[in-house]
Amino acid sequence: MTVKAQDAGSGGDDETRRDFLLLTTSIVGTAGVALSAWPFIDSMNPAADVLALSTTEVDLSPVEVGQSTTVVWRGTPVFVRHRTEQEITAARAVDISTLRDPVPDEDREIKPEWLVLVGICPHLGCIPLGQKSGQPRGQWGGWFCPCHGSQFDTSGRIRKGPSPTNLVVPPYKFTDETSILIG
Ligand code: FES
Repeated sequence: MTVKAQDAGSGGDDETRRDFLLLTTSIVGTAGVALSAWPFIDSMNPAADVLALSTTEVDLSPVEVGQSTTVVWRGTPVFVRHRTEQEITAARAVDISTLRDPVPDEDREIKPEWLVLVGICPHLGCIPLGQKSGQPRGQWGGWFCPCHGSQFDTSGRIRKGPSPTNLVVPPYKFTDETSILIG
């Protein structure tokens, strides 16, 4: 019995030491995971240069009335069109109930004379024509996608062809009278 008591006592010390070692190992292990996780978690935050690329600033001042320019935002072409009075009038004269993707022209720009569109056809992703003079712009004078014949009006809305939706208006804002920030 005494031996058992000593064994029991000895076993208790061992268990206590083992518990302590396990606890210590567990704490060190947790700290190790935390320390090794930090660089990984930190690496998931976008770097400053990546954040900078998520926006594109455009100086509109060189773009005359009736001209367009194409810029790149997040690797995607964005069409910026300085619309003429006739283009604005035509876009606003449309009965939107007749449109496949019925959005009033007034809801598609911040200033009527500046139209900003993602230059990717919503059908299958081609880049529509109409940014350069001499390119076909379709029956409604906006953009024409040569891949399968989608035609967009002077508000970038689908008027004919397979595109299910209008050309997308990206998020943007004016930073001054003649500059926009896309993204
Ligand atoms: S990708 Fe434009 S019409 Fe098909």
